[in-house]
Amino acid sequence: MHLLSIRLLSLGVTLLAPLSLAAAEPISPIFAPTDIDNHKAEIGKQLFFDPRLSKSGFLSCNSCHNLSMGGADNLTSSVGHGWHQGPINSPTVLNSAYNLAQFWDGRAADLQEQAAGPIANPGEMAQPHAVALEVIASIPGYVDSFTVAYGDESITLDRVTDAIAEFERTLVTPNSRFDQWLLGDKAALTSVEVEGYTLFKNSGCVACHSGPAVGAALYQKVGLIKPYVTDNRAQGRFAVTGNESDRMVFKVPTLRNIELTYPYFHDGSVNTLEEAVQIMGEIQLGRSFSDLETGQIVAFLKTLTGDQPNFPLPHLPPSTPATPQPNPYGA
Ligand code: HEC
Ligand code: HEC
Repeated sequence: MHLLSIRLLSLGVTLLAPLSLAAAEPISPIFAPTDIDNHKAEIGKQLFFDPRLSKSGFLSCNSCHNLSMGGADNLTSSVGHGWHQGPINSPTVLNSAYNLAQFWDGRAADLQEQAAGPIANPGEMAQPHAVALEVIASIPGYVDSFTVAYGDESITLDRVTDAIAEFERTLVTPNSRFDQWLLGDKAALTSVEVEGYTLFKNSGCVACHSGPAVGAALYQKVGLIKPYVTDNRAQGRFAVTGNESDRMVFKVPTLRNIELTYPYFHDGSVNTLEEAVQIMGEIQLGRSFSDLETGQIVAFLKTLTGDQPNFPLPHLPPSTPATPQPNPYGA
């Protein structure tokens, strides 16, 4: 343990910070935000589910971040326009407001900047921004809501992405059994789950997976002790900074709702939590867990599933003759 602390501290990861709080745990509960602009979030919710933002008229944000499936798509890598095979696993949008930056490599600073990406990305929704804006502006139901939320009827990319980001800020999953336990209900976890948490802390997982999102707060190399073997070409932060030292450095993912967001890792190559935990032990900590220990950690991880988004399905305002037509089969 002592050696491990030194090793992790030398990487700029501090295990000690959380201990300065009285009786603090390295993981803290999450709560639904209280400062949401409901008008904006309601538009964002509609846009999130609206396939008319895509060229095909078929793909919405929810296609790859399915809110019925933990905010992800449960595929190795996503299916985009024209059945395009995506380059990387779709991360969950749940609790994404907690991310220090967006995307596996952190190339978008925040949710608003991120939301512009997939609409125009030829391998995702493939819709030029100008056309997406034309679609929305042609739909009176949207024009009315934008006028209420933003003060006038102008529909800009800035407002569209602001509304989507405001909706995404609501996608927090509080009240997991682990949170109940943190908040004092000691009966919320079984003894096996508590043992798993103890192992998660004592073996050093919390050096990277801590805080309210149990991750999402820093970048770290994948394959710190042993290289991570993958065919996936993503190089992590290197793509953003060009620094050799950033090769295979990725945003540490949140582990909240991790039971729901298989398959795991940026290449989506690992189907089970058991295997993911064993790989993490080996490549990040140089430690092999027994089957018993792995089972305990997995049992703990499953207590991180919180209340899933729960709202009436948004009803999307209908198109008009002025709405640009979808093109589901074009290149
Ligand atoms: C075709 C599938 C697809 C569609 C459609 C899609 N996304 Fe994504 N999304 C992804 C993938 C794949 C990534 C990871 C890309 C990367 O990191 O390079 C991602 C990343 C994200 C992230 C960052 C999460 C994180 O942990 O870093 C957010 C937030 C997000 N998408 C929101 C949206 C929104 C909002 C829309 C609709 C405007 C949308 N996505 C449409 C597949 C999709
Ligand atoms: C040095 C930092 C570090 C440590 C220590 C660490 N992890 Fe990770 N963890 C990461 C990074 C970075 C990723 C993303 C890896 C990837 O996608 O290629 C990750 C990914 C994961 C995932 C998959 C998440 C997903 O959404 O795909 C799980 C599960 C996980 N870690 C559990 C653990 C457990 C359990 C431990 C302790 C045994 C641990 N980690 C220790 C940095 C770390």
